[in-house]
Amino acid sequence: MEYIDNKLTGNDKPAEYHRSIFVDIHCHCLPGIDDGPATMAEAISLCRLLVRDRIGTVIATPHQLGRFDTNNSNQKIKDKVSELNKQLQAAQIQLRVLPGGDVRIDERIVQLIKTGYVMTSADGGKYLLLELPENILINVDPLVEELSSIGIKTLITHPERHQFLAIQPQILSHLVQKGCGIQITAGSLLGKFGSISQTAAWQILSMPIPLIVATDSHGTSNRSPCMRAAFEMICRQSGENTARLVCIENPTRVVEGKELLEITGRKPKVGEYERIQDTSGKPATGQNRFNY
Ligand SMILES: [Fe+2]
Repeated sequence: MEYIDNKLTGNDKPAEYHRSIFVDIHCHCLPGIDDGPATMAEAISLCRLLVRDRIGTVIATPHQLGRFDTNNSNQKIKDKVSELNKQLQAAQIQLRVLPGGDVRIDERIVQLIKTGYVMTSADGGKYLLLELPENILINVDPLVEELSSIGIKTLITHPERHQFLAIQPQILSHLVQKGCGIQITAGSLLGKFGSISQTAAWQILSMPIPLIVATDSHGTSNRSPCMRAAFEMICRQSGENTARLVCIENPTRVVEGKELLEITGRKPKVGEYERIQDTSGKPATGQNRFNY
């Protein structure tokens, strides 16, 4: 595996860009659509940073609903993604951008999915990235169940940055039992959102749940991508298998619409995590849990 040889350190060179290994399922990289980059030039700059961060595939997730309400439609996002991919190709930047949304909790979500307004992750109809308000605790069970009834699993975004979930991450176990996956932010693991979020992120990482790390990056300055640094820290603190699970395998499964794998604490059997060791495109083993 390339990672072992490269150590993910040192200066990147253009020739190394093809070694991208991470998949980022939460990123505000589309121009002029939300609080991400304002222009195409800024979006391209952010995409260059994503590539330098060893991200090869990114789901563009502009805000939908909430303060953006009905400004960002499914079709508008697809058009922006198409234009960005064209520009990336023209600039020979090796990044695949897929359409998605960062969807604020709203009682209309299922209805708006059916009418083609709200975007599922990678437009695959299997996962929905759900953003909660950070300072109140809402019972999301009815929405999670409603989404489940139409075959969509809920991915709860950055609970470690939530005022209540950060200090009671055990609540996440209930959400997982309801069928949710959990996404934490790479920057939280590194302390970029403060010590409470950082402590919560590491606590969540130790839980036996289907977990994903994503950048939730917004630009090239204060909220820039830091997947590599988070990956390296997870390798040191929790082991490389866990790092690969949350930064590569599970994000890939979101893109492919497959079941997420869980951290369980058991040692792996031979061949149980082959794609985590080799991201060259081999099919998954068919396991629906990742055990280590
Ligand atoms: Fe976001």
